[in-house]
Amino acid sequence: MSTNLQTPPTDVRSQRYARSQELIERASRTAPAGVHSSFRLKGSPTPLVYERAEGSRLWDVDGNCYVDYAMAFGPHVLGHGHPAVTEAVASVLGTGQLWAGQHLREIELVEEMVEILPNAERIRLGQSGTEMDQLALRLARAATGRRRVIRFAGHYHGWLDPLFVDPATDPYPAQGAPLTPGQSAAAAADVVVIPWNDVDAVAAVFDAHDDVAAVFMEPILSNVGMIMPRPGYIEAVRELCEKNGALLVLDEVITGFRVRLGGAQELLDVRGHLTVYAKAMASGFPVAALAGPADVMDLLATPAVMHGGTYNTGISAVAAALATVRVLRDTNPYPQMMEVGGALIDGIRALAQRHGVELSVDGIGPVFQTRFGPAGGVHDRQTYMERSDPALADRFLWALQDRGVRITHRGTWFLSASHTHADVEETLEAVDGALGAL
Ligand SMILES: Cc1ncc(COP(=O)(O)O)c(C=O)c1O
Repeated sequence: MSTNLQTPPTDVRSQRYARSQELIERASRTAPAGVHSSFRLKGSPTPLVYERAEGSRLWDVDGNCYVDYAMAFGPHVLGHGHPAVTEAVASVLGTGQLWAGQHLREIELVEEMVEILPNAERIRLGQSGTEMDQLALRLARAATGRRRVIRFAGHYHGWLDPLFVDPATDPYPAQGAPLTPGQSAAAAADVVVIPWNDVDAVAAVFDAHDDVAAVFMEPILSNVGMIMPRPGYIEAVRELCEKNGALLVLDEVITGFRVRLGGAQELLDVRGHLTVYAKAMASGFPVAALAGPADVMDLLATPAVMHGGTYNTGISAVAAALATVRVLRDTNPYPQMMEVGGALIDGIRALAQRHGVELSVDGIGPVFQTRFGPAGGVHDRQTYMERSDPALADRFLWALQDRGVRITHRGTWFLSASHTHADVEETLEAVDGALGAL
């Protein structure tokens, strides 16, 4: 049992994060709030400033060390700075960074991905999940000659106008509405937002509209909790898509190369039509991919359907992706991540029970989520919100941070192949302390 049961007093916390506070104050004079993504705004007592990372560990500028489960929000499936990745990058640095032309490593990367991934006859590489989601949308529209999109409440497909859309009205199905000031309402009007995990809701939209180009979903909802699809759900949605001439886009930005080498489609034995990959495929370097059947993807073989990008297939980024994919393929770290992550999940559940705290853990070893609410009964955003206490989750987040464990602000825990049982033990001691301090 940890002796560190109380949240440190404010002055102690201020001292612990003094350099971060100083630097964020300075950064705020020249950058909005001193950060460069809206997802980094949240922090206590301030967004932290970090200095270095290695394996499962991350250090901030005050010298505090964290067992890192944020893992840059998912990319570090091998852990920070895996030697195969850093060596691959170092070996190409002297050859130049960008040629606006093709190179052997990008050909090899795509060939190896086509071998590994389910449902990938052709692949186009880009730089971010947001970008590849946009490309999936463009291709679906180009292939079908239609414009409307079905998406699901709580799923995230990047921050750009055509997909960053929420339901405008209740009840479902709801016309999409912008989620942020400055967004085009006209773009959002092409989107219908419905609850996930409900086949009838999808069928109702197809009944009402004959111009649906695509259905977008995360195959495992990872941006609100960590919610599995109901058995047969994805298969049924795919069937509805095929019956109605639309494409099913599976957004595997989080699950791809993480829950299994072949992502959620391998884990669940399901298939979409187009698949988006990013994060875990490149160990933190900007490489993302859209995979799909030749007849759709080859629309990109002429300039008729446009996708560009000065920085696409940068030399060091592709070297990092190739090394990452090869290590994942050759070492198969998934059973180990299931095992180590599974021990952590079991340990957190046991501690929650011992403390009498209603804390549920949803997901599997490589990625799971801690939710303050009763176990079970969560199958979409609505039921998640009804069964979770965000204020308690925030207090837990900061209490863990104070004890040297970093998770994401959504309560998501990303494991890596570098996390060990010793990390789990240390983490559970922090969880014990944090639960005691709530
Ligand atoms: C499921 C999903 N799709 C798309 C994105 C956007 O990816 P990126 O941040 O690389 O643009 C994210 C980012 O977290 C995501 O979780």
